[in-house]
Amino acid sequence: GAAALAIPGCGRLTAERAGAVLTSRLPLPRPFTTTLPVPGVARPADGDTAYALTQQAAQVEIIPGTRTEVWGYDGTFPGPTFDVRSGRPITVAITNKLPVPTATHLHGGVTPPQSDGYPTHLVVSEKHAAHFAPGSHLDHGRLTTGRFVHEYPLDQPAATLWYHDHRMDFTGPQVYRGLAGMFVVRDDVDDALPLPKGDKDIPLLICDRAFEADGSFRYPSADPTLLGRPGVEGPYHQGVEGDVILVNGAPWPELDVEATRYRFRLLNASNARRYELRLDPPPPDGSPFTQIGSDAGLLAAPQGLDRVPLAGAERSDVVIDFGAYPIGTRITLVNSLDTGTAGRVMRFHVARRGTEDSRVPARLADVQPLTPAQAVRRRRFDFRLSGPGEHGSRWTINGRPFDPARALATPRLGSTELWTFTSDFHHPVHVHLGHFQVHRRNGRPPSLADAGWKDTVDVRPYEVVEVLVRFTGYRGRYVLHCHNLEHEDMAMMANFDVV
Ligand code: C2O
Ligand code: CU
Repeated sequence: GAAALAIPGCGRLTAERAGAVLTSRLPLPRPFTTTLPVPGVARPADGDTAYALTQQAAQVEIIPGTRTEVWGYDGTFPGPTFDVRSGRPITVAITNKLPVPTATHLHGGVTPPQSDGYPTHLVVSEKHAAHFAPGSHLDHGRLTTGRFVHEYPLDQPAATLWYHDHRMDFTGPQVYRGLAGMFVVRDDVDDALPLPKGDKDIPLLICDRAFEADGSFRYPSADPTLLGRPGVEGPYHQGVEGDVILVNGAPWPELDVEATRYRFRLLNASNARRYELRLDPPPPDGSPFTQIGSDAGLLAAPQGLDRVPLAGAERSDVVIDFGAYPIGTRITLVNSLDTGTAGRVMRFHVARRGTEDSRVPARLADVQPLTPAQAVRRRRFDFRLSGPGEHGSRWTINGRPFDPARALATPRLGSTELWTFTSDFHHPVHVHLGHFQVHRRNGRPPSLADAGWKDTVDVRPYEVVEVLVRFTGYRGRYVLHCHNLEHEDMAMMANFDVV
C-alpha cells in the first residue's frame, strides 16, 4: 500500500495546519530585481541521442542572500531544458542520488508504459536501496536501484512538454523541491514557420513557492501516514500555494527585450495555483498575446488572447509583440487571479530597438478536428472529495481513491473516445498518453483557451467538460489524474489500460 512507500529521510517537512496559501517566513525580495534565467539545454551524453541526468540535492540562491536546498535534475531547478526532434527517439537515463524514491514522467509524451513514469515504477538511490527489500513494498510496481533508462520515441509533433517527478503519494513535495524541467520537441513544420527563433524563443516555467526563514522551501507535510488524521488533511484540500512567484526558478524576474516579437512557451508548473496571465499595460492596439500552440502542439491558426488562463500543467505557446510599445516601457506579466504578492509574475523591459525578422503566419499546422461521430465509447469520470470514511477524506475519481491494481477504463489502441469530466472543485485533469480536444464545456462550445491538442484541461467547480481523446502509440497501463499535485497525492488518480 501507499504508506509502505514512506521511507526515512523523506524530509524534515512537518505536518501543520495551514491556510491554502503558505506565507514565507522571510522578507520577500523586491520584484523585478533579478534577471530572468533561462535553464541550460540538456546535452546528450554520447553527443547523439543518449541523455543522462542525475537527481541530486544542491544549494542554490533563489531568494537573494539565502540558500535553498533543491532536489533537481543535475542539481538544478528547473532542470535542464530538452531540445529534441520529433521522430528521433532518445533515451534518458535517470540516476537517483536523492534520499527518496522517484518516478520521472514526461508530461505530454507519447511514451511506452515502461518508460512513462508510472507512479509505482520507482528508482531508489544505491545508498538508500537498503530501505527496500526488493519486491516487498510494491505489489503493482517496479523498483530499480540506482538508475533507469527511459525510452522516448517522440513520435509526436512539435510541442512544449515538460518532465517532472511522479512518485505515488509524494509528487507534490518532490516537484515542489525542484524536480521539474521543460522538454521542447521541434519538427520541420514548426521550423519552417517564420516565428521568433533562437534567443527570442524562451520557455517560461512558472511556479509558486513559500520559504522558511532560513531560505529553505516551506511545505506543510509529505507523510501520507499522517493524512486522514484530524487536522492534517486541511491544508491539502486546495493544494499548496506559496506567496512567491518564480519564473525559471527566479522570484519575479525581469527580462530586457528588443522591440520585436518573442515566442514564450508558458508552463504552469505550480503544485496547485492557477493563473490568468495578462499584460499591464496591454499594447495600445491588438491582442496582448497571440497564441500559436497549446499543450500538445501548434494550433491550426493563431488566435489573439487578452488573457491566458493556465491551470496546473497546462502550456500555452504565445507570441508577444514588444514592437507595439515605446522603447523604455516596462510591462508586467500579471496574474489577475491573485490580488496579493502572487498577482505579479515577471516584467519585460523594452530596452532597445531590434531587427524584426519574424511574423506569425495565418496558418500554422494541420490540426484534424475530432468529432463525436468518431468516438467509439463514452466514459464518465467524476472528480470529487469523498469521505470522511475509513481513511478520512480522499480525493477520488468515480468514488475511488487511486488503486494501482484496478483500471477504470480499457480504451482500444488507435481509437477515439468521448470522456466526460465532472467535478466538485477546480481540478486540472491530465490524461497520460492520449491527447485530446475539448469538445464541450457545460454543453456549450469550449472557450478560446481550450483550443488545439491538449493533455490537461481545467475542470472548474461543478463543470461538465467533454473531451475527444485519441489513444495512439502503445498498449499498457497509464494513469489519468488531477494535476493539483496535492489532490493527486491524496489519491485523485486512476489507471486505464490501453488494449
Ligand atoms: Cu504532469 Cu501525470 O503528470
Ligand atoms: Cu484536483
